[in-house]
Amino acid sequence: MGLKNHLWIKMNISYKSLIDETMKSMNDSIISKLELEYCLAESTHMSINSLKLNSETKIKSSQLKKFNMFVIQLASGKPLAYILNNQPFHNYSYYVDERVLIPRQETEIIIDEIIRQGDLIKKSGSSVSIIDAGSGSGCIGLTIAQERPEWKIILVEKSLAAISVLSKNLIDSKCTNCEILESDWLENCEHQSADIIISNPPYVKHDSKMLRKSVAFYEPDMALYSHNNGLEDMKKIIIQSKEVLKQDGFLFLENGYDQSGRVTRFLEKHYYGDIRVILDYNQIRRFTVSRNNKNG
Ligand SMILES: C[S@@+](CC[C@H](N)C(=O)[O-])C[C@H]1O[C@@H](n2cnc3c(N)ncnc32)[C@H](O)[C@@H]1O
Repeated sequence: MGLKNHLWIKMNISYKSLIDETMKSMNDSIISKLELEYCLAESTHMSINSLKLNSETKIKSSQLKKFNMFVIQLASGKPLAYILNNQPFHNYSYYVDERVLIPRQETEIIIDEIIRQGDLIKKSGSSVSIIDAGSGSGCIGLTIAQERPEWKIILVEKSLAAISVLSKNLIDSKCTNCEILESDWLENCEHQSADIIISNPPYVKHDSKMLRKSVAFYEPDMALYSHNNGLEDMKKIIIQSKEVLKQDGFLFLENGYDQSGRVTRFLEKHYYGDIRVILDYNQIRRFTVSRNNKNG
């Protein structure tokens, strides 16, 4: 990788030339121009738009130093979100580091579905109570909490490392309608307390060859892997949700690209009804929604 060449880039270079020269010096790497622009934006405390409007401005030495530090990390394969400690999600942005999964774009789809469902529950006159099981950064639960401040959200997480990040994001969000619950999935949740349970559990099987190297290396194992072909945690959540959901409550699950059929069959076996699948942006059967409306 032409990183050494990059470090020789001299001061007195414009924003535009810095990006162009850095791209050239990395022609064998997978770093995108947009990633470099984000690094430059962070180094100069400017938005990407203002950078473009001021593309001929010369970079200051302190900014160049910062930019170089970011580029070295990017070139080593570290995900941009962990370098900048930030990931946009839905209409918000969350602090992230290597203690939590980086929120994924496809997970955003489920937020609008849950809000639509919660609004219907609210319309019927009830209050809305939601559990986000395996909250990680809190991107799902905190986003819903900010969109609907009158709903009650419980953020369940087992990893103490993740809980530190979650607490920071909860404080930063200024939400007063959320609480964090340390729990092994739903073990510490009250019976028949939730209108909606949402979970994006770890669902990658241990010997999977599908994970990108940077994901496997940097993101926490506990957020990624599950035994039993990736389904052990999902199955635990399905079994425990039956107790924790109110009658007719909804279970929203994110699953792996090839798991939808198995998740559906397991839900049927455990007496969930109204099962439907939601596709992600790549037309993958990414979410399975079901309802606690049958008795075994
Ligand atoms: C795939 S990540 C999802 C994080 C976040 N909800 C998101 O969508 O970006 C799964 C999360 O579940 C948590 N987790 C794993 N096992 C758990 C358990 N037994 N009980 C509670 N949380 C668990 C992990 O620490 C991780 O934060």
